[in-house]
Amino acid sequence: MCGIIGYIGKRQAQPILLGCLAKLEYRGYDSCGIALAGSSLNIHKDAVRVGELAKAAPQLEGTVGIGHTRWATHGEPSQTNAHPHCDCTAKIAVVHNGIINNYQSLRQQLTSEGHKFASETDTEVISHLIEKYYQGDLEKAVETALRDVEGSYAIIVLMAGEPKLVVARKDSPLIIGIGDRENFIASDVPAILDFTNRVVYLEDGDVGVITTDSMKIKRNGTEVTREKHKILWSAEQAQKGGYEHFMLKEIHEQPKVIRDTLVGWVPVNGVVTDFALMRDIGVESILILGCGTSYHAALVGKYIVEELVGIPVRAELASEFNYYGQIPPRTRTIVITQSGETADILIAMRRSREAGGKVIAITNVVGSTVSRIADQTIYTRAGPEISVAATKSFMAQIMVLYWLMMSYSKVDAKRLADMLLGLRQMPSKVQQVLDNEGKILECAKYLSNFENVFFIGRGINFPIALEGALKLKEISYIHAEGYAAGELKHGPFALLSGDTPVIAIVAQDNTREAMLTNIKEIKSRGAPLIVLAGEGDEAVEELADSVIRVPRIDAIYSPVINTVALQLLAYYTAKHRGCPIDFPRNLAKSVTVE
Ligand code: G6P
Repeated sequence: MCGIIGYIGKRQAQPILLGCLAKLEYRGYDSCGIALAGSSLNIHKDAVRVGELAKAAPQLEGTVGIGHTRWATHGEPSQTNAHPHCDCTAKIAVVHNGIINNYQSLRQQLTSEGHKFASETDTEVISHLIEKYYQGDLEKAVETALRDVEGSYAIIVLMAGEPKLVVARKDSPLIIGIGDRENFIASDVPAILDFTNRVVYLEDGDVGVITTDSMKIKRNGTEVTREKHKILWSAEQAQKGGYEHFMLKEIHEQPKVIRDTLVGWVPVNGVVTDFALMRDIGVESILILGCGTSYHAALVGKYIVEELVGIPVRAELASEFNYYGQIPPRTRTIVITQSGETADILIAMRRSREAGGKVIAITNVVGSTVSRIADQTIYTRAGPEISVAATKSFMAQIMVLYWLMMSYSKVDAKRLADMLLGLRQMPSKVQQVLDNEGKILECAKYLSNFENVFFIGRGINFPIALEGALKLKEISYIHAEGYAAGELKHGPFALLSGDTPVIAIVAQDNTREAMLTNIKEIKSRGAPLIVLAGEGDEAVEELADSVIRVPRIDAIYSPVINTVALQLLAYYTAKHRGCPIDFPRNLAKSVTVE
């Protein structure tokens, strides 16, 4: 949830820490801070964005330091609660991502032993525990302190007078970036891409000591070797590249993302790549789990399975499933997660494994925690997604679902050939939506004046109504609800008025007639109506106040192009309202707490 960074090397650490923190802001941005060590510690932190911190910071000398950008859980965003957190001697500083579940009892115990706490955070107990156990060996003190701690953590510990960083992880991501006589520690790859593409992923239970030119990692006291990976993402991919916001850049990257994600799976000769785990003949049902936008991909997946595979399928929110969900025997679980770190997904995966089921993970982040738990991982090739609102990662996820279910499907050869052709045409169809945004701009300007909006869809476009509403609400702060079109009359009709626009997705499938009926019902209740419809569907013209046209496409792929249109609609509406599009208030890109 928070972003953490560490640097040790030959250069001045302050500009490096601040630059890397700015790249980690999508993990949290309500406060931030840095600490540098020489013979004493120098800390600068505040409840501001990284850019402001950088402007206000005095020049702190030192070639070893740590930094943090926070998404508050324990204690409001404030200067005191911002990381790094120190011990009583102000010699040990800690940055932490995760949650310490037993922090209250630890705090009571430490207070009774004379420790004085400055903040309301759970993190501060770690600094005091390290102080308590320190007897001249920082690594040992960290190891001992962590034995008292219950919860999740990725930490970097810095101590005055010690030219090293001590790191540890459990259930929160942490990587080490290897440079030339310098090393970086970060919660995420995009933070360090400017400096190196060689990384080591720490595993749960690892404690490491990092110096300028060495790295020693131990697990349960025994030294271990962790493989070095080469990251294929480039530094440019994690930059705005001339776009005003990451979100707009990422929306525009989607034709390429589709191509990249399908490459290797959908060969030109029409043979769909086999996928062993799905082909397992014992599989009798499928369970697809996700959170947020990835849950909407899971819902789209449910419709794809129903149409192509025809075996029982459930799509569930991982956060709900974890409290009631049963996993029938011979169920294949598929988890979908852009970051590969979402806490609810990790819990759901462990439950599935305990129930004896195999788990396929669809994720965008190589080496992420899900990839280590899953029986098989399919990587989407969306590249780094920086904007908090997920766009291109959703697109890549549903591409994987199409491909995966086609490889498993029992549809006839003609249908399969048509679908393969459709997949190959997808990038150009999406490009057409991007190139024809005039009407979307007009509708966005109009929508920006309202405070409540409904999105409706049917069938495979019902999840797209949910996703359209989610995109609009999270970045424009307009209250938006996605509804199955047939359900509007069971309650929400009471809210319809001239002040409540409805955005209706009309697909060219067996839901079209019913949707037209719904549209008429809405119209007669005076709600402004924006319709998203395929080229040539003239019937909608006289019913709608505005029509956004999208290219005609095989109905099973209509979620793809409708999503792109709704992403643009949300983006431009938020822009009209002057919202901080890439970093919406109170949200974080990666949610590593339950
Ligand atoms: C956060 C992000 C969303 C994302 C959700 C699930 O809420 O802001 O954009 O859809 O987490 O994340 P995941 O990484 O599991 O896809």
